[in-house]
Amino acid sequence: MEMKNRPRRLRKTPLVRGLVRETRMSKDSLIYPIFFEEGENIKAPIETMPGQYRYSPDRASEIIEECLEHGVNKVLLFGIPKEKDEVGTQAYHDHGIVQEATRAIKTKYGDEIYVVCDICMCEYTSHGHCGILHGQEVDNDETVAHLQKIGVSQAAAGADMVAPSDMMDGRVGAIREALDENGFKDIPIMSYAAKFASYYYGPFRDAADSAPAFGDRRAYQMDPHNGREAMKEAMLDEEEGADILMIKPAIAYLDLIKELSYRTDLPLATYSVSGEYSMIKGAVAAGLIDEYGIMCESTVAMYRAGADILITYFAKEIADAMEKGDIG
Ligand code: PBG
Ligand code: ZN
Repeated sequence: MEMKNRPRRLRKTPLVRGLVRETRMSKDSLIYPIFFEEGENIKAPIETMPGQYRYSPDRASEIIEECLEHGVNKVLLFGIPKEKDEVGTQAYHDHGIVQEATRAIKTKYGDEIYVVCDICMCEYTSHGHCGILHGQEVDNDETVAHLQKIGVSQAAAGADMVAPSDMMDGRVGAIREALDENGFKDIPIMSYAAKFASYYYGPFRDAADSAPAFGDRRAYQMDPHNGREAMKEAMLDEEEGADILMIKPAIAYLDLIKELSYRTDLPLATYSVSGEYSMIKGAVAAGLIDEYGIMCESTVAMYRAGADILITYFAKEIADAMEKGDIG
């Protein structure tokens, strides 16, 4: 058989496959999300997310050591306060749960670990919505004023970066301004630029006790049908001074990661959310799929789509897979 083109020539051995691999990734780009709750000596399993735990700040070093052992040195912190109220007071309290967890980690580890804090109100409000309610509606501008306070208090506690996930309009610019005015000019903002109203957040809402008491988040999070609007959101955040843009969730929105990767020069992050993690865990528990293989392949897909940064509950295991050379 005469054939000039034989793509298999470049698949023959591991070395040549390594030579022509198009998607290269590194542990440096992984961020591991951690849940903190108020109290002492707590490491509580999260039922909807097998293998994930809620920690009290006094046990922060346990999970941080684990991350460092795997070569993961960036974390994203979420907090679950004891007391919730209408206006999410604990979210911007100097001694709120995320502020305390941040302090505990930064005091002990300094520049060894990079701490990103999630800015949102839903874990802190009694109604579980991501902002301040007027009747049944989340008031955008009033919420933004609270988000500014949250960002400043997190930075004051030692956060290296803040990441607003609330989806209010104008919040990136407003948080930037508040950080600058308070002496935090060098704290970057990673914006959840296009965050969709997604069923994939289900397990997280149990983990963070943040499900809305009524209604849903469709009046502020994005409609999954809309891709052009996601680009618009991203461009607005870029104009407002975002340092990193994010698409969330990941696996069901790979098309938008790709599209945005062509349109922005900012680093591009994606968040492989709780539902993506728990679907794999559930299917593995049912004996349906191979956990390691599925994890690796999904991860590659996110980077291949154009993500520079991956936030994932599998961060430690993915780092190991990179170390072994199975991916990366
Ligand atoms: C808070 C927030 C959520 C997630 C990250 N920040 C939940 C939500 O919007 O309901 C989801 C993360 C995940 O599912 O892993 N707004
Ligand atoms: Zn929220």
